[in-house]
Amino acid sequence: MRTKLFLISVVIMLLAGCDRLTHTEVRRAATLTGGGNARIGRTDIRKYGCNTCHEISGVPGARGLIGPPLDGIGQRYYIAGELSNTPDNLMRWIQHPRQVEAHTAMPEMGVTEQDSRDIAAYLCTLR
Ligand code: HEC
Repeated sequence: MRTKLFLISVVIMLLAGCDRLTHTEVRRAATLTGGGNARIGRTDIRKYGCNTCHEISGVPGARGLIGPPLDGIGQRYYIAGELSNTPDNLMRWIQHPRQVEAHTAMPEMGVTEQDSRDIAAYLCTLR
């Protein structure tokens, strides 16, 4: 009985939160980022711990308050008030925020090129 309830709640959580991404959004994000995979990017966000500092919709538990919420980042004009918001610049920021802004609280986390492409793809879907 317990197991059944647990499984049911997992299914509900998956339906409610995780699979917000539509095929159209995933395809659009891939085109914008030169092949980034938004679904993998969503997982990578947790792998790197971006969720500890940012509120990010669609990512369970991403309620960090150290950095700004990333909702709507796909539509903003600037990244961190510094770089114009293009997919390439988003990847650059994710990989090397301190090359852009030496004193930013956002750390260099050794995000690989491919992972930054996938994460940027996910962020492009936040509109
Ligand atoms: C230790 C906390 C911390 C972590 C971890 C962190 N960030 Fe940030 N992030 C920040 C802060 C602080 C800013 C604001 C920087 C600024 O404006 O100078 C920021 C800014 C950003 C911005 C620009 C937001 C805007 O409103 O323009 C993006 C995009 C971003 N972070 C993505 C990420 C991603 C993706 C990860 C994980 C790979 C990550 N961050 C991990 C603290 C963090």
